[in-house]
Amino acid sequence: MEFKIKTGELAKLKTPCLILGVFEKRKLSGPAEAVDEASGGHLSEIMKTGDLDGETGRTLMLYAIPGISAERILLVGCGKRKELTRASYRQALSAAIDLLQRIHAGEALCALPDLAPEGTNPYLAVRDAVTAAADRVYRYSATKEDKQAPKTPLRRLTLWVSNKEDLTQAEKAARHGAAIAAGVALAKELGNLPGNICTPSYLADQAVELGGRFDKLRVEVLEEGDMEELGMGALLSVSRGSRQPAKLIVMDYRGAQDGANPVVLVGKGLTFDAGGISIKPAAEMDEMKYDMAGGASVFGAVQAACELDLPINLVGVVPASENLPDGAANKPGDIVKSLSGQTIEILNTDAEGRLILCDALTYSERFDPELVIDMATLTGACVVALGKHPSGLFTKDDKLAAEIMAAGDAAADRAWRMPLWDDYQSQLDSNFADMANIGGRDGGAITAACFLSRYAKAYRWAHLDIAGTAWVSGKEKGGTGRPVPLLVQLLLQRSGELTAEG
Ligand code: BES
Ligand code: MN
Ligand code: ZN
Repeated sequence: MEFKIKTGELAKLKTPCLILGVFEKRKLSGPAEAVDEASGGHLSEIMKTGDLDGETGRTLMLYAIPGISAERILLVGCGKRKELTRASYRQALSAAIDLLQRIHAGEALCALPDLAPEGTNPYLAVRDAVTAAADRVYRYSATKEDKQAPKTPLRRLTLWVSNKEDLTQAEKAARHGAAIAAGVALAKELGNLPGNICTPSYLADQAVELGGRFDKLRVEVLEEGDMEELGMGALLSVSRGSRQPAKLIVMDYRGAQDGANPVVLVGKGLTFDAGGISIKPAAEMDEMKYDMAGGASVFGAVQAACELDLPINLVGVVPASENLPDGAANKPGDIVKSLSGQTIEILNTDAEGRLILCDALTYSERFDPELVIDMATLTGACVVALGKHPSGLFTKDDKLAAEIMAAGDAAADRAWRMPLWDDYQSQLDSNFADMANIGGRDGGAITAACFLSRYAKAYRWAHLDIAGTAWVSGKEKGGTGRPVPLLVQLLLQRSGELTAEG
């Protein structure tokens, strides 16, 4: 899908469909008023019918409007004028896109960014429109016939800005938004693909393909033999119970002129988590195909950095494996030696994410990172603690925490900080190894982060537990593409393309 920016007199702009906002109680938005005037009061006349009172997400399609160049006008309810939040703005946009996908317009001109939802600026209003629209347009069809697929898919959305001075910012927003949206779509697709297709090898192939698309991206895949040689005993112990060979995927993007230290993103790439010998209950086990969502978000962020040609160095590291029960699988009580040299007693084979991540974190030292952020669907406990709205953020680095939280806020992909105090560390004590891989019932998301912290001492580091945010269950089951928006926002800020305010 293509995104463009336009300014000029709305009534005179040619488009198959012009999208205008309407507020509660039947109040036309600014752009709608201008169009109303040009049409000789046609819109206010229609508003009198009461068919659309302005409730968020309600829509009304109008045809053959006098004095207007657009073939149709789509009126969208945006709620109360004073209460237009980013969330309700996205909701209104989604509803408009939904309707557009069911008609034969193919493209549209949207004046909603002019409504300046609370907490935005012209840049964010345009970027939000782009990402919300793309979010709605994404459909999964890799393994099923998409019977409800739109006959005339939306090919182009043009965002209208009233002020010529905002054109540069708006164009930048459209470019950034499109890259974020493409990263989100990639992460969604990888998360949605089943475990028998999206295996560690499949992820590795995807990375190699990505590397082929961009000159500044070099991709390397470490095989089990390489990992053996390095001494990645923790990662390899997880994959031993699976017939699919583990892969350690490294995507190295060099966008900075100098040899600046890279940001390293590490993502859990567990392509199916049955729990291993500590097997999970059958109900909803299918959803554990998304246990590679952290890795998928690394793919999405790396792709966005490449597409935007960001002037930074960025390394994506994705340890990829399955976690299955098998005669060779980890058993409770087994002790393995990690790449760091520390030994781990595996008390629960279902706490496998930290086992593959710890070796990837140690491996990341070799890139001499500016900072490392890992993303992982790590614990059910994080979902219990925070619900499904924010990702859990863990770091001892206050400055980094503030930077990540601000990026999440700006990208409408929020994170919330959890404690990472040393008080929790003793829960990982083991009588037989340097540490156990679980810390008991209390504070499960925190002890998981504590475990990782022991492998991330050589650099600035933060951990995002995305178990609650990377996926939605129920009728709309599927990947969300989070936290790609947060990550790309952070990269944009770090590369000087943006301030936290846009
Ligand atoms: N992949 C799961 C965590 C998870 C649970 C993600 C639910 C998304 C939704 C992880 O590997 C896991 O199994 N964690 C265990 C840890 C426990 C054994 C200490 C958990 O959360 O139950
Ligand atoms: Mn598990
Ligand atoms: Zn897992």
